[in-house]
Amino acid sequence: MIDLGSDTATRPSAAMKRAMSEALLGDEQRGEDPTTTALEERVAALLGFERGLFLPSATMANQIALALHAGAGDEIIAHRSAHVVHYEGGGTSMTSRAQVYGLDTPRGLFSAADVEAAIRAADPHHPRTTCVVVENTSNGGGGAVWPLTLLDDVFGFCRDKSIAVHVDGARLWNAATALSLPPRRLCAGATTVQVCFSKGLGCPFGAVLALSDASWPRARRLKQALGGALRQSGVCTGAMLYALDHNLEGIAKDHARAQKLAAGLAAIPGVSVEPVESNLVFFSTGKPAAALLSAVALRGVRLGLVARTVSPERERLRACVHLDIQDDDVDAALIAVRDALSAP
Ligand SMILES: Cc1ncc(COP(=O)(O)O)c(C=O)c1O
Repeated sequence: MIDLGSDTATRPSAAMKRAMSEALLGDEQRGEDPTTTALEERVAALLGFERGLFLPSATMANQIALALHAGAGDEIIAHRSAHVVHYEGGGTSMTSRAQVYGLDTPRGLFSAADVEAAIRAADPHHPRTTCVVVENTSNGGGGAVWPLTLLDDVFGFCRDKSIAVHVDGARLWNAATALSLPPRRLCAGATTVQVCFSKGLGCPFGAVLALSDASWPRARRLKQALGGALRQSGVCTGAMLYALDHNLEGIAKDHARAQKLAAGLAAIPGVSVEPVESNLVFFSTGKPAAALLSAVALRGVRLGLVARTVSPERERLRACVHLDIQDDDVDAALIAVRDALSAP
């Protein structure tokens, strides 16, 4: 199966497994796992933050960040297609107990003016706006990369209004690659940043939350409370350090293959492809999406179906290019989609 259904489909390579098995270990809960400490310090430096906190998943990192920035009765502004809205099991209502206001703007991106328009007046009728979530790249937005001017504009506005900004950077590596900028440039002005290792970097798990010294104790306590504090986690973080050393450079190739896939799809009659800026290719066809997915799967290719994140009536198909996808996989996927669409 050529798995384009998600960029989480990658399997750890033999070399990554070796890095895991050879990692130096200790008790992470006591701060004694040297591999995890090394990862946290390295990611903090890469993103320009004082501290890093290793977490088993990006979902847990997002939830801890939101609980740092918002509480009961508060409101978090996010794009309505955001991961924190659709795919975290309603976690925000459990961890921070704040409500989320979903912005409805093109491609998952928004401006300071959009945020300003969504901020509530200081009035006992309204919730208090305390946090904005920027998802970069925006998955629901078609893998859109936040332009630097827009990002700086939102960061600056929120700083002036004392509103925290959390960056869901599950694909921040992709955004930085697309803009040819160091990742820290996309974080300057954010309050917290989550980066994930199980997507573009090809690890089986793992995320790091970058944060300030001041917010670290509370975040560490929340990690404990949510059961995210591990013991000899170097077996996990060894893979993540390996990925930083070896897999970052592969992202540019993923983006080139995504462009090739998009061009091939656009050439198939009836297929409409959204603009491609990173490793995600969103498209739609005139046929019911579920039937097309099955027909393509019969031809050995898995695609994803994204429903309802942007509009209830619009079915979008998603193809994710990742570390385990080569040029001939793209060619085979194009043949499978063309065949499936031309079958009676
Ligand atoms: C934008 C975004 N944020 C967060 C996550 C959560 O990642 P995890 O599976 O590590 O919890 C994902 C997963 O696909 C994602 O796409």
